[in-house]
Amino acid sequence: MTTTAPLTENRFVSGEYVRAARDLHVEGRAIVVNTGTTPAWTALEPRRPLPAFSSTILVDTTVSRAESLLVLKLDDEAAPTAEIVDEPEWVRLGDVVGEHVGPGTQFPVDTPLWRGPQDVLDVVEFDPGQALGGGPSGPRAFELRANLWFAPAGTDCGIHVLHDFIEVHTQVVGVGRMQKFRAQDHATLVEDVVMGEGYTTPVPFCSRTDEGAFVYPWHQYRADTDCVWLALEYHQLP
Ligand SMILES: [Fe+2]
Repeated sequence: MTTTAPLTENRFVSGEYVRAARDLHVEGRAIVVNTGTTPAWTALEPRRPLPAFSSTILVDTTVSRAESLLVLKLDDEAAPTAEIVDEPEWVRLGDVVGEHVGPGTQFPVDTPLWRGPQDVLDVVEFDPGQALGGGPSGPRAFELRANLWFAPAGTDCGIHVLHDFIEVHTQVVGVGRMQKFRAQDHATLVEDVVMGEGYTTPVPFCSRTDEGAFVYPWHQYRADTDCVWLALEYHQLP
């Protein structure tokens, strides 16, 4: 049975989470993110998959089948700007985490980076080893959470390395980058993934150890223009 849940409202971006989508009509223009771990399929011919952890922009098109989707729409009348951070429950990250975001990781507290309210969308079960491109590890339950971020043009959002969840990012407004580094130092850049509207980094940056930990490289988001982007987080449940 198809179930849906809205993301916390703001004036600029609306989001609807849809589980077990069947013949879901996307009216107008929307960023459609496959939040499942199996391919989704639109009704477009020739039939091609929308892989797991990826997204596209659909316009007046039907999704035939998907394990789960997040459908994001921009308000035509109110193009998202820095004003999104004045919406309810938005916080400046430095005000919340201070400068210590993990052992050995310094966060510049004056970074102009804002986080929107985080929604718990679902509990999903999948094999994290396989989902991350490794060997089978058996099914596990994950809490799927989502929130938006905002940073103005030219912001380096902070190089960090530790997460106890799988994270995936989708560009919503503007042009940004997900970047990998050898160390917490911008001069050690090793990979630079440019993201335009509707683009999701299709390969999560983490791998998984045999003990079940997620291992990330040093990484950060960088905003080339004023940017709004979506973070999806898969938190493994005990
Ligand atoms: Fe991260």
